[in-house]
Amino acid sequence: MEVVSIQCASRSFGEIHAVRDLTLKLAAGEIMGFLGTNGAGKTTTIKMMLGLIVPTSGKVAVLGGDPRTPSVRAQVGYMPEIAYYYPYLNARELLSFYGGICALDKDLVRERTEVLLAKVGLADAAIRPLKTYSKGMLQRAGIAQALLNDPALLVLDEPFTGLDPLARIHFRELMKELRDAGKTIFFSSHELGETELLCDQVAIMKNGRAVYRGPVRDLAGEGEKNLERLFLDVLAKGGEE
Ligand SMILES: Nc1ncnc2c1ncn2[C@@H]1O[C@H](COP(=O)(O)OP(=O)(O)OP(=O)(O)O)[C@@H](O)[C@H]1O
Ligand SMILES: [Mg+2]
Repeated sequence: MEVVSIQCASRSFGEIHAVRDLTLKLAAGEIMGFLGTNGAGKTTTIKMMLGLIVPTSGKVAVLGGDPRTPSVRAQVGYMPEIAYYYPYLNARELLSFYGGICALDKDLVRERTEVLLAKVGLADAAIRPLKTYSKGMLQRAGIAQALLNDPALLVLDEPFTGLDPLARIHFRELMKELRDAGKTIFFSSHELGETELLCDQVAIMKNGRAVYRGPVRDLAGEGEKNLERLFLDVLAKGGEE
């Protein structure tokens, strides 16, 4: 089954055509990297996938249903581009708060919180208020928050931002572990090197349109920085693949 199916979706904000005629499919157990220039429509697409905004035209289905359906939402984890967490909560309280929002069992949340904080390297900072966190630490807290409901689909808006090189390596390993466990991952990024190393599929946006969609393995064997070359090529051409 397709975990994400976007069919000819467009979204305008007044005169601004943020996303135009976008068709995108993501199969279960795949990792898709979503690239594009600033303002190309990545976050708008992600918000449509989450049901936070509706398309002006076209269709968006997630896990076979409308992304606004509570049963679909319960299976989706999301880390926003910019998170506004309550500054006086610590990481443990943050996860407990989100566990409440997701209506998860309290004991399960407590158990998962410790596992996730250890996974993202925040175990030692678990009781420090978030207002004392560095940028990368907040990003790590966001990743833990997105994984709290053990989602079938994980959606991350620029997950590499602020992560140090070691954290990036751990993050990649964590994502591959999740994929191997059958999870589906969709992330936007400006980090071409990281994206090339992590994802199975890539889509590149320009001015609201997908100018490339395809498997990353097709790029293999063409020397180094394949994705960077492809990115520059498709942006220069600007047409459909
Ligand atoms: N709520 C909104 N109201 C008006 N315009 C919007 C709104 N949200 C997005 N836009 C516009 O839609 C376009 C796409 O924005 P979007 O945030 O999807 O880009 P992006 O690809 O995520 O960019 P970035 O790489 O900078 O995060 C931009 O021109 C942006 O100004
Ligand atoms: Mg964005």
